Amino acid sequence: MREYVVEMNHIVKSFGEVRAVKHGEFTLRKGEIHSLIGENGAGKSTMMKLLYGMYPIDSGEIIINGETMKKLEPKIAIEHGVGMVHQEFMLVNDLTVLENVILGFEPKKGLTIDFAKARQEVEHYIEQYNMDIQLDKKVSQISVGEAQRVEIIKTLMRGVEIIILDEPTAVLTPQETKKLFEILANLKAEGKSLVFISHKLNEVMEISDRISVMRQGEYMGTVDKDKTTPLDLTKRMIGREVFLNIDKTYSKVGQTILEVKDVWVPALKESSKIRGMSLHVNEGEIVGIAGIDGNGQSELIEAITGLRKVEKGSVILNGKDVTNLKPRKVREAGLAHIPEDRNKRGLNRTMSIENNLIAVEIDSGAYTKGVLMDIPAQDKYSEEMVKQFDIRPTDYKLPTSALSGGNAQKVVVAREVSMKKKLLIASQPTRGVDIGAIESIRNTLEVAKKDGAGVLLVSAELEEIISLSDRIIVIHEGKITGEMPASEANENNLGLLMMGGAVEEEKGGEAS
Ligand SMILES: Nc1ncnc2c1ncn2[C@@H]1O[C@H](COP(=O)(O)OP(=O)(O)O)[C@@H](O)[C@H]1O
Ligand SMILES: [Mg+2]
Repeated sequence: MREYVVEMNHIVKSFGEVRAVKHGEFTLRKGEIHSLIGENGAGKSTMMKLLYGMYPIDSGEIIINGETMKKLEPKIAIEHGVGMVHQEFMLVNDLTVLENVILGFEPKKGLTIDFAKARQEVEHYIEQYNMDIQLDKKVSQISVGEAQRVEIIKTLMRGVEIIILDEPTAVLTPQETKKLFEILANLKAEGKSLVFISHKLNEVMEISDRISVMRQGEYMGTVDKDKTTPLDLTKRMIGREVFLNIDKTYSKVGQTILEVKDVWVPALKESSKIRGMSLHVNEGEIVGIAGIDGNGQSELIEAITGLRKVEKGSVILNGKDVTNLKPRKVREAGLAHIPEDRNKRGLNRTMSIENNLIAVEIDSGAYTKGVLMDIPAQDKYSEEMVKQFDIRPTDYKLPTSALSGGNAQKVVVAREVSMKKKLLIASQPTRGVDIGAIESIRNTLEVAKKDGAGVLLVSAELEEIISLSDRIIVIHEGKITGEMPASEANENNLGLLMMGGAVEEEKGGEAS
C-alpha cells in the first residue's frame, strides 16, 4: 500500500497580490487524523481548499491515491474520495435535515428522489457513527453541533474516504466538541483519513496522530503528536514563545460601576431576545459573559451602550441612569467600548491610524475629534500609542485599511483603554486576531482592571473568559443561567450552563 493517500508538494498559491501559500507541503496517511495548525491567515484554509479543488494551484503538485491531479475541482475531488466540511455551513434553514442531506444529489433525469431509500441510507450512517441527528427537524431548529454532523453525513454520502474539517470546533461548546471528537475517532476506526484544521492546541494534542504547522504561508514542519509539546507547536506557529495565561491580579474591588436591572431587549432572532437580565460590574474586576454566539450577548452590549432600545428595565452607569440615552451620552457617563465589529463600529478604515486613535464617538458613526490637539501633540500621542500597544506597521499616517486584523484591533483597544473610563466593555476583543495580538490585548485588559476600571468582557472563547475574568456570568437564550467566581469555573460547568443548564438526564450516575 502507498504510504500516503494525499501528497501536496511545493504548493504555491496567490490571490492577486496576496501570497496566501508561499510554500505548502502536506501528506495524509490512510486512517490518520492529521491536524493543520497556524495563526489566522497562515494559509491553512487555502491549502485545503486547493486539495478540494476550489481554486487551481499556481505551482506544485497534488497527488491523490497515487494519481497526480492535472485538474481539480470539487466534483473531481469528490470522485477521488475527498470531501470537505466548511467553516460556514451550507444548509438551507427552511428545509428539514433530511431534505438538506438529499439536496445536492441530483436525481437522474426522469426519476424522482426516493425519500424512503434516502432516509434509510442516512439512518445507516447515523447509527454507524453514533451521531445524534433528528432528520425531520427544520435546520433552523437544530444546534450548530447538529448542523455540523449533518454536513459530515453529507460528505459521507458522497462516498468519500478523506474528510477535511476546517476549524470545526470554533463554533462548538466543549460538550459538542467532545461529541465531534467521538465521531472523528469512529471515522478513523473505519479507516477514513481526516484533516483537522484548528488553532486550539489542547484539541490538537488530544485528537491528532500527526500535526503540520504553517506560518505566513510557509510550511513549518510536520511532527508526530507523541513527539511534540504545545510549547514546541506555538514556537513553530509564531516563531517565539507566547504567554496567553496572564497572571491574574486580585486588585481591590471598588464600587459598583455598572448596574443592569431587569433589562428586556427585543431582537429579531428568538434566542437573542433579552428576557429580564440583571447584573453588575464593580471597579477593579473583570466580569466575563460566557455563552454560545447568538444568545443575546450582542443585544445586551448594544442595550448598555445605547445602540439598541431597552424595552423594560434600567441601566445605571457610574450612578447615572443611562437607559436609552444616545451612545455619546453613555460614553460621557464613563464608558469605553471595544465593539464586536471593529470594521463597522470600531474604526474608520479610510482614516489614518492617527485619526482613529484620537477619534471618539465611533459608536454613533460620527467621526469627530474628541479633543482638538495641535499637530505635533497629535503626532507625539500617536507615536506613544503605536509603541505602547505594539501597533505594526508603526507609520501612524497610514490608513487603518493597511493593517492586519490583529493590528487594527490594537488601534481600537489602544484608543478605548487610554481614555481611562470607569467602565470598559470588550466584546469579542480577540476574535479573528493572531496569537501575538491576543497576548497583547489580554494584557491590556488586565492592566485596565488593575488601574481600577470595571471590565465587562464578552467572548465566545471559554478559555479566554476563564483565564481573564474574576467573575463569570453565563447566558443562554437571553437569560442568565449561572454565575460563579472564575476559580470555580471550568469548560464543563460553563458548557452545561451555556446550553441552558437543566440537563438532568445527561448527568447520569455522576457523583458530582
Ligand atoms: N479568496 C481569497 N482572495 C484573496 N485573498 C485570500 C483569499 N483566501 C484567502 N486569502 C488570503 O490568504 C491568506 C491566507 O488565508 P487562509 O488560507 O484563509 O488562512 P487561514 O485559514 O490559515 O486563517 C490571508 O491573507 C487571506 O486574507
Ligand atoms: Mg481558515
